[in-house]
Amino acid sequence: MLSASSTKGGLAMKLLNFGALNIDVVYQVDHLVLPGETISSTSRETNCGGKGLNQSVALARAGAQVFHAGMVGEDGGMLLELLGEAGADTSLVREVPGGSGQAIIQVDRRGENSIILYGGANQRIDEPYIDEVISQFEEGDCIFLQNEISNLRYLMERAHEAGLRLIFNPSPFEKCLLSYPLDYVDYFVVNEVEGHQFSGKTEPEEILKTLMDRHQTAVLLTLGKEGALYGDDTGTVRHGIYQSEVVDTTGAGDTFTGFFFSALLSGQPPQDALRLASQASCITVSRPGAAPSIPTLAEVRERFHTER
Ligand code: RIB
Repeated sequence: MLSASSTKGGLAMKLLNFGALNIDVVYQVDHLVLPGETISSTSRETNCGGKGLNQSVALARAGAQVFHAGMVGEDGGMLLELLGEAGADTSLVREVPGGSGQAIIQVDRRGENSIILYGGANQRIDEPYIDEVISQFEEGDCIFLQNEISNLRYLMERAHEAGLRLIFNPSPFEKCLLSYPLDYVDYFVVNEVEGHQFSGKTEPEEILKTLMDRHQTAVLLTLGKEGALYGDDTGTVRHGIYQSEVVDTTGAGDTFTGFFFSALLSGQPPQDALRLASQASCITVSRPGAAPSIPTLAEVRERFHTER
């Protein structure tokens, strides 16, 4: 068992995020390149990213103690450094020969992006490593998963057997996810498009109800400019967005997830968790990059003049 304190954010349980760590190569463009078109970029930056890493950074900067598990390649030093600086525990991350995961990202003048993933070390997650990591956690602890690493089905099964509460952000969507053991999920985190792909519904309330009823789960549904909805067996709450200049939307969803669950799992009401997550992601979109743009809790409080 890991002996590190798990109560930095007042949580009795441990939080594990088993997810991808990517080197994001970000090209600033006028518009997202079209099929057959060649365009020039106005800048190129290399940042830390990956849905897993971003969500761990957001959890940690929001004040939660999170253990990150995943694999990096020989070039992964910057990823470990940033995670550690944010306050996440990186002792479970393994370095393997070859390259880390990579994302090629275009960001247009409106801040919208398109992303190509290269799995790299993220696709080398194997069963023995999963067993080793899961054995460090116990019933009632929480695990965060996204869909950017290998052996995800096995990981879900092992986490369930170990009695971990599963927070699943099935992104990016792939059809094979529909046959995964989704009834093991305690909290679904989807955007409107993923919500439609999983539920077949288009109206936010219907997406929420369908997923909740079908899988007996709580659901966090993010709706871009329309805000977010959260539903569990105590009811449904909604929150709008805070206006800000949009520089780069990359990592906004990951910020939302990290701040929302940091608050919810430490006992704050869902409405307060939604508000905090909306405030934090409003700051993220106003800055370039994924992980580097995620604010700390202190920054969120200062910007919105709130105490909690
Ligand atoms: O959610 C944003 C992330 O998606 C980027 O950081 C990129 O690495 C991709 O995983």
